Amino acid sequence: MPAASLRLASFSTLRFLSFFPISNPSPYSLFRHRRRLLFEDSAANARRRCFCTGTSVSASSSDGKNNQGNRIGSKVGEFRRKLRVAEVKGGADEGLGRVGQSLSVMGWVRTLRSQSSVTFIEINDGSCLSNLQCVMNPDAEGYDQVEAGSVLTGASVSVQGTIVASQGTKQKVELKVHKIILVGKCDSSYPIQKKRVSREFLRTKAHLRPRTNSFGAVARVRNTLAYATHKFFQESGFVWVASPIITASDCEGAGEQFCVTILIPSSHETTDSPIDAIPKTKGGLVDWSQDFFGKPAFLTVSGQLNGETYATALSDIYTFGPTFRAENSNTSRHLAEFWMLEPELAFADLDDDMACATAYLSSTSYVKYVLDNCKEDMEFFDTWIEKGITHRLSDVVEKEFLQLSYTDAIELLLKANKEFEFPVKWGLDLQSEHERYITEEAFEGRPVIIRDYPKEIKAFYMRENDDGKTVAAMDMLVPRVGELIGGSQREERLEVLEARLDGLKLDKESYWWYLDLRRYGSVPHAGFGLGFERLVQFATGIDNIRDVIPFPRSPGSADF
Ligand code: 4AD
Ligand code: MG
Repeated sequence: MPAASLRLASFSTLRFLSFFPISNPSPYSLFRHRRRLLFEDSAANARRRCFCTGTSVSASSSDGKNNQGNRIGSKVGEFRRKLRVAEVKGGADEGLGRVGQSLSVMGWVRTLRSQSSVTFIEINDGSCLSNLQCVMNPDAEGYDQVEAGSVLTGASVSVQGTIVASQGTKQKVELKVHKIILVGKCDSSYPIQKKRVSREFLRTKAHLRPRTNSFGAVARVRNTLAYATHKFFQESGFVWVASPIITASDCEGAGEQFCVTILIPSSHETTDSPIDAIPKTKGGLVDWSQDFFGKPAFLTVSGQLNGETYATALSDIYTFGPTFRAENSNTSRHLAEFWMLEPELAFADLDDDMACATAYLSSTSYVKYVLDNCKEDMEFFDTWIEKGITHRLSDVVEKEFLQLSYTDAIELLLKANKEFEFPVKWGLDLQSEHERYITEEAFEGRPVIIRDYPKEIKAFYMRENDDGKTVAAMDMLVPRVGELIGGSQREERLEVLEARLDGLKLDKESYWWYLDLRRYGSVPHAGFGLGFERLVQFATGIDNIRDVIPFPRSPGSADF
């Protein structure tokens, strides 16, 4: 079926609802009532008749007769997507093509104001930044509830009416309301009122903040970025692989993992949990053999090692899921739970890895996709969050990504006429101040890839370069965010990898399956990890990472 046929005519909501199975009359009676009202329109009747052929079971339940007997074993109604505000006024003509159409929309009241005999209600259903302006006269059905002050900001409503050209200048069309149904009242203590509130305050209302302009826009852009990510990798021949969330291996060997255990009492016992209840060995150590997995287990810090197993079978794969770090980093770029995209490419070296990361981040994929598909939200970020962000993003597409070696980056920092908090010398793990200087000042806002880092500061699995001092690692730095991507070519030579594990005093036994990949048909391979929230920060200009994930987890904070 061509894509265009999925776009909805004004009665789509109506059609969807007419096939909703009515098992308990009370909650749906609202919608049944609405159906009746709209069927009075003869055009609607014609459409309905046409649509209903062949779906008689559901249709017959709409005639008002008791259909109890037929319900046992009757067909499930066909799914029809709702008509959303974005579809009503999101097209190039901003809804003018729909003038004269009768339709219904459901959403939450953003504002309500009365002017002599006319009431204006702005409704938002989260499909786009814009509200649908609904204009209501006292003769509209349900007006008594408006008059009685029951329809307040935050209330959920269902409105039915006709699209008309707007008298105002802020929108091309508005809905002339025939009927309003108050679906859910809103208490006057509702904290998301029209006045602007700080993002810090909204973090304490994370359950309601998606109803604000900023958080609604972030949610939509985040969704589009995720879609564009899958699209890019699927179209490039990669297979999406689920890496485990619970793991017994510490990918980075860095020991910043959350332990997953049933040895300590479960949540309902935490207020009164005796330490003595934890099973111990004779030597007085924790007896992990009695734990759920028979050994210590953790939340994963990265899906990479598991990803490598699938890359060395399916060639190019990616994982995309939540990862966890128990590091005590209370910064605007760190979360304890964040999403990571981790592509892994077989028969590939560091240059292929950098090319893949660059292709993903450049024009053919997400930037263009976001700019095209989230135009209104991006304009909002440009106006209210970071002036010039759309320009900066387009810039990323147009300007070439540059690479330089870690050694050259150190040279550059040493020559910089700038005092850093962390003094610069070869061997230093670059800090955010250094990374931001390089991408924002030295390279004037271009994304920069730094490669070939000292092996002492990088993970055991990175491939050793011929100089014996550095490894084939790369970090991609972008303006404002700093490190967006960390990746490397993996050490595919069994003896070299074993020697490295020995050197770092890591237990080779526990990496037996990882070493097997080097034993059985080893191939050069490489991959990277991209912090998805940092990408959302980069795309939206939102400066605190806690505002680009729905429910942030950070040291001391795991509410909601
Ligand atoms: O550089 P990292 O630690 O690399 C890895 O985990 C590799 N195993 C990835 C791979 O090669 N497959 O993390 C990758 C990215 C970072 O560049 C950063 O964007 C993000 O993950 N990241 C965080 N994002 C939010 N909060 C944190 N605490 C993060 N730690 C890393
Ligand atoms: Mg890193």
